[in-house]
Amino acid sequence: MNDNLRENAERGVFSGKLGYVLATAGSAVGLGNIWRFPYLAARYGGGIFLLVYLILALTFGYTLMMSESTLGRLTEKSPVGAFKYFGKGKVSAFGGWINAVIPMLILPYYSVIGGWVCKYLYEYIVGNVAGTASDDFFGGFITSAGAAEFWFIVFAAITLIIIVLGVENGVEKVSKFMMPVLVILAIIVAVYSMTRPGAVAGIKYFLVPDFKHFSWMTVVAALGQMFYSLSIAMGILVTYGSYMKKEVDIEKATHQVIFFDSGIAILAGLMIIPAVFAFSGGDPDMLNKGPGLMFVTIPKVFESMGFGRGIGVLFFVLVFFAAMTSAISLAETSASTIQDELGFGRTKATGLVAVIMVVLGSLSSLGYSGLSFVHIFGMEILDFFDFLTNSLMMPVAAFATCLFIVKRVGINNISAEVRLSSKFRFEGMYRVFIQSVAPIFVVVILLSSILSVLGILNI
Ligand code: PHE
Repeated sequence: MNDNLRENAERGVFSGKLGYVLATAGSAVGLGNIWRFPYLAARYGGGIFLLVYLILALTFGYTLMMSESTLGRLTEKSPVGAFKYFGKGKVSAFGGWINAVIPMLILPYYSVIGGWVCKYLYEYIVGNVAGTASDDFFGGFITSAGAAEFWFIVFAAITLIIIVLGVENGVEKVSKFMMPVLVILAIIVAVYSMTRPGAVAGIKYFLVPDFKHFSWMTVVAALGQMFYSLSIAMGILVTYGSYMKKEVDIEKATHQVIFFDSGIAILAGLMIIPAVFAFSGGDPDMLNKGPGLMFVTIPKVFESMGFGRGIGVLFFVLVFFAAMTSAISLAETSASTIQDELGFGRTKATGLVAVIMVVLGSLSSLGYSGLSFVHIFGMEILDFFDFLTNSLMMPVAAFATCLFIVKRVGINNISAEVRLSSKFRFEGMYRVFIQSVAPIFVVVILLSSILSVLGILNI
């Protein structure tokens, strides 16, 4: 089997399974794993959160990833085009667009956090090990408008420059080089953190499920995190699937990405949660810290280490590259949709992405300083964009994808495309999930998110 099966020979193509897996893992592994997963796990029950997360990833996540990447390979189109390919109806158009808009809304605030990472990297490069570990360093930084905005623009600019270089050059080369480095560095920091005095309680809290800590919010948060971390429900995988050759085993590639992505999330949890116990005695306030957890906890670990400065530089380089490959993927899919749908050239499409990034990103960034008086449903602007995309739009997009696959594309067409180069061993589970479990579950989660934000439901 070869590439001649592809109808559109002009479209960029990944070099093979490794190219696809690395690029997809590059998109999947990012701030979601290193920054977001640990603070959610710390907040929503430790081991029980981890267990719920893994179950969801291997069933629900698997189903949606398979659907999206197969749809992309089948149609050789980015999300809006892929949805239109099978139907001209309003549902198809809506399904395509919601998938396409989500990355454009995530990319700006993602770049704000990317900017925080750049700032910390800079501080370690100049040797400010003690300063970054002090209690009010993080708060001081995000509340100073100029500094936060500056670092946000630095991160955004680097992302845009890389995507102007195109698929092969931009995504694939960066991911191939960075992934192995990332794994090794994560292991080193996790081992150090786990061997601190007092860390064992943290390892236990994070790895051993305790049903006492279970709440409905555990499930809600784990589902949102699963979408986010696996880059599901935003057209990313449709776009990447469209760059995939016909001989790639989609099911195997999907499993590899899920294992790799979950592995990095677990490593990140092991870097951060034991450290919360070792350095703050498992203080509930600290466990509940939210988006600042990594930025507050990790510097304390580094300060206690012999080579704190060097390790700090390495760590934030690692996080920087993980964030960058994800940001590239968000920008890439946004630009690709704009190119295909509005007929823009690559440069013009990238320009439009840049404008969206700067405007919405600045709102999120200034939400902690100049715009700190703005609260939307009680949330800061950055948290609001996070909630809007992860808890509202992604469930809707996932629902639309399920409906679209079942009603328009037909599960048999998906199955035939997967089977071109894969045994599709979990087809039975796939069918049950895509037809019933996934859509029902997603509606329940969506409703509970809406009711809880309106204050009607207290979960
Ligand atoms: N999955 C990435 C992460 O875990 C974030 C991301 C979200 C990337 C959406 C692309 C699209 O950080």
